[in-house]
Amino acid sequence: MSGPAEGLAVDGLTVRFGRGVGATVALDNVSVTVPAGHTVGLVGESGSGKSTLAKAILGIVPIAAGRVRLDGTEVSGLGHRQRHAFLRRVQMIPQDPYSSLNPRRTVGQTLAEALDPVRARVRSHRAEIEAALAEVALPGEAIDRYPHEFSGGQRQRIAIARALITRPEVVIADEITSALDVSVQAEVLRLLGRLRHELNLTMLFISHNLAVVEQVSDEVVVLYHGEVVESGAVGDVFTRPASDYTRTLLAAVPGQR
Ligand SMILES: Nc1ncnc2c1ncn2[C@@H]1O[C@H](COP(=O)(O)OP(=O)(O)OP(=O)(O)O)[C@@H](O)[C@H]1O
Ligand SMILES: [Mg+2]
Repeated sequence: MSGPAEGLAVDGLTVRFGRGVGATVALDNVSVTVPAGHTVGLVGESGSGKSTLAKAILGIVPIAAGRVRLDGTEVSGLGHRQRHAFLRRVQMIPQDPYSSLNPRRTVGQTLAEALDPVRARVRSHRAEIEAALAEVALPGEAIDRYPHEFSGGQRQRIAIARALITRPEVVIADEITSALDVSVQAEVLRLLGRLRHELNLTMLFISHNLAVVEQVSDEVVVLYHGEVVESGAVGDVFTRPASDYTRTLLAAVPGQR
């Protein structure tokens, strides 16, 4: 079943690591909907299952129960080729721009590889690559340079360009600013905020930083020990949290209510 742009929907997702009595239930019956064009913030303490949810959506970790749908189409039922197409429509921006970029590849090669993993030829895609670099405010000459020649914030902008060059509908951002200095964090968030409007992105924005989540998200989902304890419009959840756990999270943020 495939419909209009319904966005990303996760229904009753359960993920376990290990077997038997020693198994960890990383996600327990989790449901999250990211309507097309919206940004949903995913918060929760370390170990609550945020990255596991991102990985389960992308098929990197196996799902024990539940399903993932994009615009109404169930992802787990897809064959190899359709799955490949799905993975182009959903891109992840990783946390650490120092380890996520291949140090032996030029920026141009990294972006060419995102467009065409098999041939990865810069020459065939030069105009597209230069446009992608301009979109994240990097000069065209960056195409021939290596990751070590860039600052952390610039590297994260390269990672954003790599995620967006395939023109995905959905972007999953997992702690994309936590490896950066505060001033650089703001710059990367401004850039992402602008691009998500321009490209009408559907975004799952994972962060343990509630102030950042409040800034970029329309809705928020609170995870605790692998379960959703609260979800709703950002304004509602942050001003009138329904669960004790959310209140505790908010109380821990300096300068917040
Ligand atoms: N590959 C794995 N094998 C076994 N256990 C795992 C694996 N990946 C995650 N876990 C466990 O699943 C739980 C959720 O981990 P996850 O990485 O999703 O948390 P998180 O919310 O992203 O935390 P953080 O904020 O520190 O990034 C944790 O108990 C973790 O130890
Ligand atoms: Mg994580």
